Amino acid sequence: MATDEISLRKIDHVRFFVGNARQSAYFYRNAYGFDVVAYAGLETKVKHEAGYVLQQGGITFVLISPLQASHPDAHRLSLHGDGVADIAFQVDDVRTTYNKSVERGAVGVKGPTRLEDEWGVYEFATIRAYGDTTHSFVNRDQYRGPFAPGFNPIDPSRYNPATYHPTGLLAIDHIVGNVEEGKMNEWVDFYRRVLGFEQLVSFDDKDISTEYSALMSKVVQSGRGKIKFPINEPARGRRRSQIEEYIDFYGGAGVQHIALATNDILKTVRALRQNDVSFLRVPRTYYDLLPERVGPIAENIEELAELGILVDRDDEGYMLQIFTKPVQDRPTLFFEIIQREGSRSFGKGNFKALFEAIEREQSLRGTL
Ligand code: FE2
Repeated sequence: MATDEISLRKIDHVRFFVGNARQSAYFYRNAYGFDVVAYAGLETKVKHEAGYVLQQGGITFVLISPLQASHPDAHRLSLHGDGVADIAFQVDDVRTTYNKSVERGAVGVKGPTRLEDEWGVYEFATIRAYGDTTHSFVNRDQYRGPFAPGFNPIDPSRYNPATYHPTGLLAIDHIVGNVEEGKMNEWVDFYRRVLGFEQLVSFDDKDISTEYSALMSKVVQSGRGKIKFPINEPARGRRRSQIEEYIDFYGGAGVQHIALATNDILKTVRALRQNDVSFLRVPRTYYDLLPERVGPIAENIEELAELGILVDRDDEGYMLQIFTKPVQDRPTLFFEIIQREGSRSFGKGNFKALFEAIEREQSLRGTL
């Protein structure tokens, strides 16, 4: 490669470290509609951890649990609870990408590694990101297996034919990181300088504040917009902000939410609700002001109100979004469902209504 730029194709997969991968796989399958496609563990001669690969549309989640306390990452479970451990990027050349990133200041976790089995060659390397989160560089161009060496296709008899409502999730739209107060610019700089991301819109705490909480957020992107990472840091409010709450319970910086794209959010949210996914609700008054705020949209406002779907508009179009409640006991990781109709932004106009909804939940938890 003659170019000096680091080029990331797209997000290859997101790896979650969880207490019980077998049960988490059941949750992501039956609630979110993922297919469980591959498994690693004792039966595939992997001695230290169990892994499940879940796929839907262009989304790949990998769920990993340690099998013994001696697992090198076992401490993550008491420190962080379940959460995102690694966001892996697909690259043309693992070694070049890794070396360039380290030259520019990335901290290496695992140097370029080549794994081989009967399905071919899988290459990866890993660097540190915010908190205990890492980024892997992956190349699977010469790999034909279900995921990576160690993983076998799932035994189809292990799962009954689908018993859930299909949700139509298509892709990862963006992944948001919460970092400690005063660290946002450092991490924006890391993505720009080390990984060649460009910075998009930014807004300050005046844009995103409620009576109690405030945050600052900047967005970086790569892969011609295929990879979008908003980075949040808490700003001073009257009481504990939701970003501080996250950091307290996660035990540091980490992934706050993953936004999953659909092209029919009404259908997707109906299915998710039938599968028992719980969403944040905004006050009914939100919908009284909606037509004036966003102008004409194709969707029926009554239906949006019934499901609690939010709408925002910018000069390129509009977008519809909704946020789930946290998906583990700690108030940490949650998901967003998003449908873009031209808009490429992140729902700034909804932040206030949304934060007030999150604060109602915080107040129920006694953490406001
Ligand atoms: Fe988001």
